[in-house]
Amino acid sequence: MRVVVIGAGVIGLSTALCIHERYRSVQPLSVQVYADHFTPLTTSDVAAGLCQPYLSTPSNPQEAEWSQQTFDYLLSHLHSPNADKMGLALISGYNLFRDTVQEPFWKDTVLGFRELTPRELDIFPDYSYGWFHTSLILEGKAYLQWLTERLTERGVKFIQRKVESLEEVARGGADVIINCTGVWAGALKPDAQLQPGRGQVIRVDAPWMKHFIITHDPAQGIYTSPYIIPGIHEVTLGGIFQLGNWSEVKSVQDHNTIWKGCCKLAPTLKNARIVGEYVGFRPVRPQVRLEREWLHAGSLKAEVIHNYGHGGYGLTIHWGCALEAARLFGKILEEKKLSSIPPPHL
Ligand SMILES: Cc1cc2nc3c(=O)[nH]c(=O)nc-3n(C[C@H](O)[C@H](O)[C@H](O)COP(=O)(O)OP(=O)(O)OC[C@H]3O[C@@H](n4cnc5c(N)ncnc54)[C@H](O)[C@@H]3O)c2cc1C
Ligand SMILES: *[C@@H]1O[C@H](CO)[C@@H](O)[C@H](O)[C@H]1NC(C)=O
Ligand SMILES: *[C@@H]1O[C@H](CO)[C@@H](O)[C@H](O)[C@H]1NC(C)=O
Repeated sequence: MRVVVIGAGVIGLSTALCIHERYRSVQPLSVQVYADHFTPLTTSDVAAGLCQPYLSTPSNPQEAEWSQQTFDYLLSHLHSPNADKMGLALISGYNLFRDTVQEPFWKDTVLGFRELTPRELDIFPDYSYGWFHTSLILEGKAYLQWLTERLTERGVKFIQRKVESLEEVARGGADVIINCTGVWAGALKPDAQLQPGRGQVIRVDAPWMKHFIITHDPAQGIYTSPYIIPGIHEVTLGGIFQLGNWSEVKSVQDHNTIWKGCCKLAPTLKNARIVGEYVGFRPVRPQVRLEREWLHAGSLKAEVIHNYGHGGYGLTIHWGCALEAARLFGKILEEKKLSSIPPPHL
């Protein structure tokens, strides 16, 4: 069975690993990953990597489950000696608001979720309500490297190329194509529901920052106000979310917005050394597209599993989605087995 995964971000690599782990012993598999960009040049490398879904309840209730499964999976790896290589660690911090809001659907997924006390709110004079909890950080760059090593050990091959059409992949002999192309999924056959949510982040060296601090402006939309998210080595500063904007340019205006906003939240950042600045496009969709499609072009036929549209929470939800994609893959295997049994002679 020949499987081609298109995309080498967190979604493509984790889906490839999950399928290989689950089905390699059942069925000989040849798995290849095609991508035009690999780590450190994917959107997944730009992400801060905090495990936190959006505040609003997802329109597809399965997404809440997938985030929960991802959190539990990562938590089970926390004490493995590999956690460091995976870019995985515990992190606690604050979500801040100017008005009281409803508690989020994920309050029991994370650890020790509670409202802020008046003394905690005194630390942040511009805000009057908020939450504190412990979550996980999964640094994209380290995690992609770790996934790549696990896949390489398993004999998975990586091929650098831009896929222009499904036919081209099917002609190459793929039985199953897994479509993990992120925000670019619509490039071949437009998906009107998929849009870029442009982000820009500044990475700084500020080892004294030990907590995440995320401010919210619900009227403007998610991640449009300052946030500070410490990673394992560097701290990510952000607060830009521009729907429909494909500009790859690092904007000076956005830089100043982030810097001013974050320094107001945590004035010691003024002394932090800037070590990088990145632009990335969140694959925004009303919900993740995770489903099978049977595609044929002329005499070429292939099964496709789509897994894209993870917005600003791809790392947060990736493993639950990989498990679901693997389940769909298992169904394809079963059906192929059934259809290869010769029909009984009547
Ligand atoms: C500023 C910012 C901060 C973020 N912070 C967080 C966070 O803290 N926590 C969190 O959970 N999420 C966060 N996200 C969201 C997260 O980055 C995305 O949801 C996630 O990276 C999507 O992963 P992906 O694998 O679908 O896409 P990508 O990482 O973009 O990978 C797509 C892959 O597909 C390949 N590809 C696409 N089209 C083709 C083609 N035609 N041919 C060949 N290859 C192709 C690309 O080369 C690439 O390898 C953030 C995003 C941004 C922009
Ligand atoms: C991936 O999905 C998108 C959106 O439906 C589509 O445009 C693209 O052709 C798909 N790619 C493959 C190889 O199936
Ligand atoms: C897109 O973002 C860039 C950089 O912030 C900005 O200069 C440009 O005006 C934006 N374009 C649109 C259409 O929003």
